[in-house]
Amino acid sequence: MAPQVTRSSQLLDLAVGQPDPALLPVDQFQNCSVNASRLAYGEQTGDASFRKALASWLSEDYGQPVHADRLLLTNGSSNALDMVCTQFGRPGATVLVEDPSYFIAMDLFRERGMNVVAVPMDDEGINLAALEQAIDQYQPNFFYTVPSFHNPTGVTQPLQRRNDLVALCARTQCPIIADEIYQSLYFTQKPPRPLAMFDDDAPVVSIGSFSKILAPGLRLGWIQGTEAIVSRFGNAALLRSGGGLAPVTSALVEPLLLNGEFEQTLNRLRQIYSERADCLYHSLEAAFGEQIHMVRPDGGFFIWLSFVDGRDVSNYQEAAKQAGVNFLPGQLCSENNGFQSSMRLCFAWYSEPQLQEACNRLASVLA
Ligand SMILES: Cc1ncc(COP(=O)(O)O)c(C=O)c1O
Repeated sequence: MAPQVTRSSQLLDLAVGQPDPALLPVDQFQNCSVNASRLAYGEQTGDASFRKALASWLSEDYGQPVHADRLLLTNGSSNALDMVCTQFGRPGATVLVEDPSYFIAMDLFRERGMNVVAVPMDDEGINLAALEQAIDQYQPNFFYTVPSFHNPTGVTQPLQRRNDLVALCARTQCPIIADEIYQSLYFTQKPPRPLAMFDDDAPVVSIGSFSKILAPGLRLGWIQGTEAIVSRFGNAALLRSGGGLAPVTSALVEPLLLNGEFEQTLNRLRQIYSERADCLYHSLEAAFGEQIHMVRPDGGFFIWLSFVDGRDVSNYQEAAKQAGVNFLPGQLCSENNGFQSSMRLCFAWYSEPQLQEACNRLASVLA
């Protein structure tokens, strides 16, 4: 199987949702060292001094205190989702997701033998009336959501929607699994705080990751929740057997958190991705005009483009590839096979000239 970062020289593949390899912070990992404690089996919730450094950085970024004992380290968001399935799922159970949703998360739930049921969104995130009805009807084991700079739509839940969502979760005791992977990748305006920071009586697990804000190869992320939730995850057999996750990687990232280099790298990424988002958005606007609908992204990785004439974009995918460009058909992100006229386009992987060229190629097939 090809490594995830392989690029073809001919194809501009906007379906890929990954950071630009040219922006990976190689220099910051040149003089790495680890001490003996990080080479031993680690603390079940993850190294304490790293969690302290992470909590301090998150407190700044979220504008509200985060305590180290409410964090548990993971090997990224995907690993956290897998651990969520162990703790909250079981074969035959139902999981509610947004329609559309992150397609690989849905695959992950299916791999665990769970039934995925999609609930509609609007331009502020999940439709709460529909969610309440689905909770009532399916008695799900949990609801999976991407609250900030949603994958694939780019939508960010505003504060009121978050308040209402968490209140619904507290009332019904339906756990919320909030994949907050794009939370800190804002361009101009910080999103409201992660869902785990609203109400301790609501069973909410927020998941964070360094994949999009530093480097995915680190396989480093975290779970944030109440102490009860953290201890539930921390006592999983996986961690009782193997110790806490990422002891070595967390040792490599810790100095970057403490000396400000991580913040500098992240600010640079915010700037570059923001320019790329603008570039792709304006190129698409110029090429397609009234034919499409898009929301201008203010963070994250994606533009969600919909054709107003209702055409099925997957009919054009082969021709687009022939023209040297690819996109992710919206239908792949929908449990209900909806969103046939939409596509997800990633602006993070390519430079501005390449994004313009990708847009020209798309227009040659679809405009
Ligand atoms: C919503 C969402 N969750 C999880 C992931 C994967 O995250 P990680 O690399 O931390 O496992 C991605 C990557 O595209 C994503 O968009």
